[in-house]
Parts: sequence; structure tokens; C-alpha cells
Amino acid sequence: MPAKKRICEKLDKIENLPTLSIVARQLQHLMNQPKVNMASIAVVVARDQAIATQVLKLANSAFYGYPNKFKSLLQAIVVLGLNVIKNIVTGLSIIRVFQDSLDTFSFDRRQFWLHSIGCALGAKLLAQELKYENDEDYFLAGLVHDIGILIIDQFMHPEFAKLLDYKQDAKEYCDAEKTVLGGMCHCDVGAYIAKKWGLGENIVDVIQYHHEPEQCPREESKDLVRVISAANILSVKIRVGNYIENFNSPTPRMKDTGELVDPKKLEEIFLEVEREVKTLAMEWGIYD
Ligand SMILES: [Fe+2]
Ligand SMILES: [Fe+2]
Repeated sequence: MPAKKRICEKLDKIENLPTLSIVARQLQHLMNQPKVNMASIAVVVARDQAIATQVLKLANSAFYGYPNKFKSLLQAIVVLGLNVIKNIVTGLSIIRVFQDSLDTFSFDRRQFWLHSIGCALGAKLLAQELKYENDEDYFLAGLVHDIGILIIDQFMHPEFAKLLDYKQDAKEYCDAEKTVLGGMCHCDVGAYIAKKWGLGENIVDVIQYHHEPEQCPREESKDLVRVISAANILSVKIRVGNYIENFNSPTPRMKDTGELVDPKKLEEIFLEVEREVKTLAMEWGIYD
């Protein structure tokens, strides 16, 4: 049986696979409508007070760099734009799905999220340097690129424990996963759940191909996949904590992070990510 079919069958059998928050789903639905009303977006987000409070806090953080504080969600939506707010809500909702188990299971999830935030920030900065549009999409893609790891830990726990033992001997993390999980890795699992959550084809492609960007078949996703792949290596290089994919990884080469970026600029981006990653993770509520 092909690996992909096996994964789907295995994951389909898990009855309590997590879903995204209602707010995130309603927002995705609204954003797909031809005409979107800013006030109705604010109303939808406000229905979940915890998310609404966090969105406003993030919108007011140094990261978005607006000198005057937003007093209302609507004001933040008008100034930052719908896409930024949708990405913040989606990111927060995904973090929340796994937050209850922050201290349990087999590895330190704070380190996992630090790696993800490092990748997200690196991706956004690389996208800005490359003058790509919608740099916020790069941030969200970086944030969620490894969610397959969390799904495997949570729902295939015995296999994950075996994987942690086995990984020392494998050259690449994905190879170790494929050996233990019958041919599948966190990229396959993550892409499956992202599709289920309706995260969009570009994000699904990022999750599926971030370890092998040259395999991405869709032209529309290629820039995003390449940048996330580069930012992933960058975030591994920064080595914030003992991140799980870190083992045996070769020292990343400059060319892995995109020939288009000047090495000096790349070094500046490394330093900025290294400097900002913990503060940003705190602002996102995933590090204290
Ligand atoms: Fe990965
Ligand atoms: Fe990663």
C-alpha cells in the first residue's frame, strides 16, 4: 500500500483529531467571500474573548511597529489589514490546539515553538529582503511548518517514543520517521492535517515540501516553500534549545538559505532572529 494511503487510513481512524477554533474557521470562510466587511471580521474575532485579547496584544506589540496603540480590534484590522489579522488568529488557534499538552509528552514543546517562531521570523525577513508580497503569509507558514511532529507525538505516541530512540542513528530526521512510521514523516502527517483544517494549498505545500523544496510541483507555492525551507535551516542553525530536528544536521550552508540573498544581509537576518526569537515567542504566549 502506498505510504500516503497508509497515512490517511491511520489518521482517519483517529477519532479525536483536533479541529481549529470556531473563530479561525469562520474567519477563513469570511475571507473567501468576494466582499468582506471589516466590522463583521471584528465581530467574529470578538466572539472568542481569549483570542480577541491576544490579537489586540499582538497587534500592539513592537513586532508590528505601530507607534500609536490600537484601542479596538476594528482599528487594528483597519490599519494592519485583514490578512494580517487572519494570519494572527490562525496562528494563535493552531498554537492553542496543542497548548494543553505543553508540559506533557516526549519533548519540550517550548523548544519546538521557539524553533517555529525562529523559522517564521526568518521567513518574514527573507521575504522582505526578496521584496516578495504578503510577508505575513511567510510568517504563518514558518510558524506551522512542523505541526506534523506534534500530531505524531500526540496521536502516535508509542511510535514517537521509538522514533526518539532511533533518531540518534539516522542521518536525517525524516529518514528516521520513515523507518519507524512505515514510510511516512512529519511532512506527510502535517500536510494531511493542514488540508483538513483548510489552511490553503500554499501552506499545505510548505508543510509537505519544506525538507525537499525542489520537489514542490506547484509553481504558485515555490517561492514560499523555498523561503520556509531556507528559514527552517536558519532556525536550526540558531540552535535555540535542543530542538528535535536538530540532531545530526549538517551545518547549514549559505546557499541553502537562498542564493538571492546577499551573505552579509543573511548574517544580519540570522542575528535579528537570534536576538528577537524569545521576545516574539513570549508575545505569542508560547514561551515564558
Ligand atoms: Fe520539518
Ligand atoms: Fe523545522
